[in-house]
Amino acid sequence: MMIETSLPDSVERVLLDEATIQQRVREMAAEISADYKGIRNEDFILVGVLKGAFIFMADLSRRLTVPHRVDFIALSSYADKADATGAVRMIMDTRTDITGRHVLIVEDILDTGYTLSYLQRVFKARQPASLKTSVILSKPDRRQVEVQVDYLGFEIPNVWVVGYGLDFADRFRTLPYIAAIKPSVYEK
Ligand code: IMP
Ligand code: MG
Repeated sequence: MMIETSLPDSVERVLLDEATIQQRVREMAAEISADYKGIRNEDFILVGVLKGAFIFMADLSRRLTVPHRVDFIALSSYADKADATGAVRMIMDTRTDITGRHVLIVEDILDTGYTLSYLQRVFKARQPASLKTSVILSKPDRRQVEVQVDYLGFEIPNVWVVGYGLDFADRFRTLPYIAAIKPSVYEK
């Protein structure tokens, strides 16, 4: 088996290397831990948005110094809304009832904003004790709807990125860095 040690051919350039990401996640975890200080395990739920947020969720949750539970939801994939109408569907809901609990959404990237604004609307209707959102990446130039974000990792330019959980056609998710892919990859 060939193990890849150099950059894959599909990668155009690395925007955020592993150390930079890990440092920022440490800072975000410290800030969140301070904000939720004194909270009880059963009252604080991190909800990760599958699949893209699974790595960020794993890193962030392990760096929190406050007790918390983890749960996941799955929303319709980007491809389903290629027409950019902003239609988002829930594919899988949380197991935990979020009503009356402090909820922190953990998402990979804020792009047009449709996904997070949908999710925040759905979750607010369930009347959590509080609702906040953490996102590792944001592409501000792409925004169609305004979305409240409480903890943001990095702002990036309007390019398709992969790695650290993010994919292109379900590839590249486990790259430890965040990289732009060559146009030739999605023009295929
Ligand atoms: P939004 O609804 O347009 O804000 O899109 C958010 C979702 O689109 C994210 O949860 C990602 O799954 C996906 N997405 C947007 N931009 C990228 C990207 O550059 N790489 C990988 N996925 C992306
Ligand atoms: Mg996503």
